[in-house]
Amino acid sequence: MFRRLKEDIQSIFERDPAAANTLDVLVSYPGLHAITMHRLAHVLWNKNFRLVARLVSSLSRFITGIEIHPGARIGRRFFIDHGMGVVIGETAEIGDDVTLYHGVTLGGKSLGGKSPGKGKRHPTLESGVSVGAGAKILGPVCLGKNAKIGANAVVTKDVPEGATALGIPGHIIHNKLKVAVNDMHQTSGTPSKVAGLVS
Ligand SMILES: CC(C)(COP(=O)(O)OP(=O)(O)OC[C@H]1O[C@@H](n2cnc3c(N)ncnc32)[C@H](O)[C@@H]1OP(=O)(O)O)[C@@H](O)C(=O)NCCC(=O)NCCS
Repeated sequence: MFRRLKEDIQSIFERDPAAANTLDVLVSYPGLHAITMHRLAHVLWNKNFRLVARLVSSLSRFITGIEIHPGARIGRRFFIDHGMGVVIGETAEIGDDVTLYHGVTLGGKSLGGKSPGKGKRHPTLESGVSVGAGAKILGPVCLGKNAKIGANAVVTKDVPEGATALGIPGHIIHNKLKVAVNDMHQTSGTPSKVAGLVS
């Protein structure tokens, strides 16, 4: 638990030049408070203390303005900058070293009407993904490793590894992995296994 907290604090220093010192980070980063309380809520959720888990999550939202469902699975060194208005749904899955800004929703796609059921309804973010302020990622889509989503984008389709997507509907502006794979083909003429990952 403390090792995780130490890693979280270190990741804030690495990603936010405004972080002054450890005390500053401990008292003034709601994203750190939210992920710490989420870890407790998630353990309670998995041990079937579901109402208590919900209470911890509600308290966290009250204090930080960040709503994370206790069932959401979140990796290491997760950083939510600013935080207010972030919503993360029950079946969201988040890898390591992911960064979200304020106003991001990792939500379901349905809008009232017929219930989508209890299955996977929320996005999966692979390791190293960054999502800009106000972006909405909706439905059980997958953002591949190190993908970037622009501020205020609305994404309802998968985004490949290394790609940057922005706008409404989210579209890909560049894909560093694709460029690297194309370069490799040009220099060696050998098809690469990773080529299958990009569209
Ligand atoms: C998406 C993003 C990562 C792209 O950064 P980049 O790779 O450096 O891309 P560029 O700045 O070169 O922009 C490329 C083009 O996309 C446009 N663009 C950039 N971000 C955009 C966005 N969020 N929505 C719509 N268009 C955007 C640029 O105007 C530019 O258009 P042009 O080619 O017609 O001039 C970045 O612009 C972004 O949105 N970051 C979010 C940061 C954030 O949320 N900060 C909050 C801090 S409090």
